[in-house]
Amino acid sequence: MTVAAIVPAAGRGERLGLGRPKALAVVGGLTLVARAVDGLVEGGVQTVVVVAPPGDEDAMRAALGSRRAVVVPGADDRVGSVAAGLEALPVDADVVLVHDAARCLCPPEVVRAVVDAVRAGHRAVVPVTAVADTLRRTDRAGVVTGLVDRTGLAAVQTPQGFDRATLRAAHARAGEQRAAGGPVVATDDAGLAEDLGVGVVTVPGDPRAFKVTTPLDLAMAEALVGTVAT
Ligand code: CTP
Ligand code: MG
Repeated sequence: MTVAAIVPAAGRGERLGLGRPKALAVVGGLTLVARAVDGLVEGGVQTVVVVAPPGDEDAMRAALGSRRAVVVPGADDRVGSVAAGLEALPVDADVVLVHDAARCLCPPEVVRAVVDAVRAGHRAVVPVTAVADTLRRTDRAGVVTGLVDRTGLAAVQTPQGFDRATLRAAHARAGEQRAAGGPVVATDDAGLAEDLGVGVVTVPGDPRAFKVTTPLDLAMAEALVGTVAT
């Protein structure tokens, strides 16, 4: 079985606010995208497609250096960027992971666990962690309207794993819905698969697979690479 990964890295990183694509931000001397690709390869991924902001493909290639990855231009939103990556997958890829460049410190064990679960026959697999904070529902004015029972809630990370046909079908359906002017509600690939009626299974995620979103997250990533974490 050939394991491929699509790395959506085409976001602009508005919340990080560096004025350049987030995937090109540097942690411990290495870009987020290079770290994300290294983690995937260490976890058993054989071929990688990186989706870059249109116009930044060369900068992305430079950041990847000698790593073996195909770089393609992305789209205005993440779903579109992953769809662009799907088109560039090698024909022999049968297990496909989708992994945010922004989750650059995801341990290889998580990658392996996702791959193994897809290999075992699960069509859609997500790594999850427990929700730590107490959750409350609020109204528009910020007033608490209810308690959310945390039992049975999970925070979903990437890489998310799929058999190729499932991921293709999920994105084909999302593309059709979009073309028909309908809303695509799902915010991740497993959500799109779920919309198809595919059962999504979970494997243990890891706190180090957190998504670098804000300057605080970047500082946390920097602190982690300076310690025992990677
Ligand atoms: N992504 C993408 N194409 C887009 C938007 C996002 O490939 N049009 C990717 C990002 O590069 C990132 C992942 O999806 O690796 C998760 O998105 P997010 O954390 O929201 O990153 P950005 O969109 O770059 O950040 P922001 O929303 O703050 O601008
Ligand atoms: Mg975004």
